[in-house]
Amino acid sequence: TRVFISRDMASVALGADDVAAAFAAAGSEVVPTGSHGLFRIEPLVEVETPEGRIAYGPVTAGDVAAVLDGSHPNRLGRIADLPFFATQRRFTFARCGVIDPLDLAGYAAHGGWAGLDAALALSPAAVVAIVKDSGLRGRGGAGFPAGIKWQTVLDAKGTEKFIVCNADEGDSGTFADRMLMEGDPYCLIEGMAIAGHAVGAGHGYVYIRSEYPFAVATMREAIARSAARIAPFTLEVRVGAGAYVCGEETALLESIEGKRGQVRAKPPLPAIAGLFGKPTVINNVLSLAAVPFILANGAQAYAEVGFGRSRGTMPVQLAGNVRNGGLYEVGFGVTLGELVNDIGGGTESGRPVRAVQVGGPLGAYFPPSMFHLPFDYEAFTAAGGLIGHAGITVFDDSVDMARMARFAMEFCAVESCGKCTPCRIGSTRGVETVDRIIAGERIDDNIEILRDLCETMRFGSLCALGGFTPYPVLSALDHFPEDFGGARALAV
Ligand code: NAI
Ligand code: SF4
Repeated sequence: TRVFISRDMASVALGADDVAAAFAAAGSEVVPTGSHGLFRIEPLVEVETPEGRIAYGPVTAGDVAAVLDGSHPNRLGRIADLPFFATQRRFTFARCGVIDPLDLAGYAAHGGWAGLDAALALSPAAVVAIVKDSGLRGRGGAGFPAGIKWQTVLDAKGTEKFIVCNADEGDSGTFADRMLMEGDPYCLIEGMAIAGHAVGAGHGYVYIRSEYPFAVATMREAIARSAARIAPFTLEVRVGAGAYVCGEETALLESIEGKRGQVRAKPPLPAIAGLFGKPTVINNVLSLAAVPFILANGAQAYAEVGFGRSRGTMPVQLAGNVRNGGLYEVGFGVTLGELVNDIGGGTESGRPVRAVQVGGPLGAYFPPSMFHLPFDYEAFTAAGGLIGHAGITVFDDSVDMARMARFAMEFCAVESCGKCTPCRIGSTRGVETVDRIIAGERIDDNIEILRDLCETMRFGSLCALGGFTPYPVLSALDHFPEDFGGARALAV
C-alpha cells in the first residue's frame, strides 16, 4: 500500500516521523510530502485507494493496522473535501501536501515549469508587464507592486544583477515561507528563475533563517536537482544567524555580503544598488512563489481574485490560541472575523476571543468589534494596522494587553540593530514606561509619555522594526484602555 505522510517540520514536531517509520516497518510504501497546513489533524496519513487518497488524522505509530483496514475512527475522507480546504483558493500552495517535494517528475506532472517555459518564450519586458498586470504586491509585508520593482531592476544599467529571496521569516505566528520551501521547493526555484529572466539576472540567493534547518536542507537538495532545468540561471542558499532585523531587506543584503546585519539607509533602493552594489530584486518567498501561477495561467487569472488594490490570494497563517491553526490561502477581502471565527474556529481554549494580532510582532492588536475589517492592505492601514506577512495570532480573554504592549517594546529592544536612536534607546525607555503604568505609577502622565515616544519611534526610525513597534503598543492602548489602569495588571 502507498501512503503519504508529511515531513514538514510542524508535522514532525507532532510525531509524523514515528508514524512514517511504523508504516514503513509494516511494509507500506511511504511517500514523503509537505504539509497540507491544518495542524489539528496531524500527524496525518493519506492512503492511496481506488477512490483517491483517503486521509486519517491525527494518528499515532500504533494505529497502522486500523488505518490500513479502514477502521480508524479519525477517517477524514479526501482532504480536498474538508471544509477547511474546500473553501481555499490554492494558487501558490496547490501542490503543497500533495507531491513529494523533491520529486522533479512529480513537480512537472502537477503543472510545474509551465510558468518558466511560458516566460522563456517571452521577452523580459513582456514578463514584467504580465507581473504588473497581475497586480501582485510584495507578500513580505510592505505590499509594494512586484512588477514595478522588477521594472526598476530591468531598467537599471549594468550587466550583473541579482535575485534575492527573503526567507528570513521572523514574524511570530508565521510559517508560510517555511511550509512552501519544505513542501514545494521547486515552485520557489521556478519563480526565481522567472525573475532572473525578467530582469536579466544570472544568479540568485535564498536567504533562510537558521531556525529552519529542514527548509535549508530541502532547498539545497532541490537546487542541486533542478540545476539543469533552470540553467543558465544559478541559485544558492545562505543561512542567517538568528537576527530578526536581517529580514529587513538592506540588513539581509549586508548579511549575505558577510557583514554585520545592520540596516542601510535608503536611497539607494536595492533595485538600483543592492547586493554588492548591483541592481537586485529582493522579494519574499510568497511573492516569488506566486509568479509561476501568474505566468502559467495569465495575469487575469490572478488579478480577478481579490479586493480593491489587493489582488490575488494571500496564504493566511492562523496561530496562537486558535482551534484550526494552519495555513489558509484565500483571495483578499475575506473579513478578519471570518478568518478567526469561521475558518479558525475560535479559540483552542474555548474562551472568548479578546484580541488578535495581525502582521507579526510589529502588527496591531484588534478587538472583535473590528472583525468586519476586510483582509486588504489599504483597509488595515486605515485601521491603524498592517496585514504584514499575514500571520494572525489569536488571544482569549485571559490576555493582559498592557503586558503585550510591554512585550512589543521589549522585543524591539532585544532585536534592534542599534543604528538609530528612536529604536535603540526608545524601545528601552518604552519598556520602563510601560512598567511604570503596570505598577500604577502616575498612569495618565506615563500614558502620555508612551504615546509621545511611539510618535518619535514611528516617524524617526530608519526601518520598520523601530517604525512599526508603535502599532502593537498604540492599538493596545486605543482598543484595550481598561488594561492600562494598573488594577488589572496588578491583579495578574
Ligand atoms: P518599504 O515600504 O520600504 O519597501 C517595500 C519594498 O519596495 C522594498 O523592497 C523597497 O526596496 C521597494 N521599493 C520601494 N520603492 C521602490 C521603487 N520606486 N522601485 C523599486 N522598488 C521599490 O518597506 P520595507 O521596510 O522593506 O518592509 C516593511 C514591511 O516588512 C512591513 O510592512 C512589515 O509588515 C514587513 N515585515 C515582514 C516580516 C516578515 O517576517 N516577513 C518581518 C518584519 C516586517
Ligand atoms: Fe536598526 Fe531599529 Fe533603526 Fe531599524 S529602526 S535601523 S532596527 S535601530
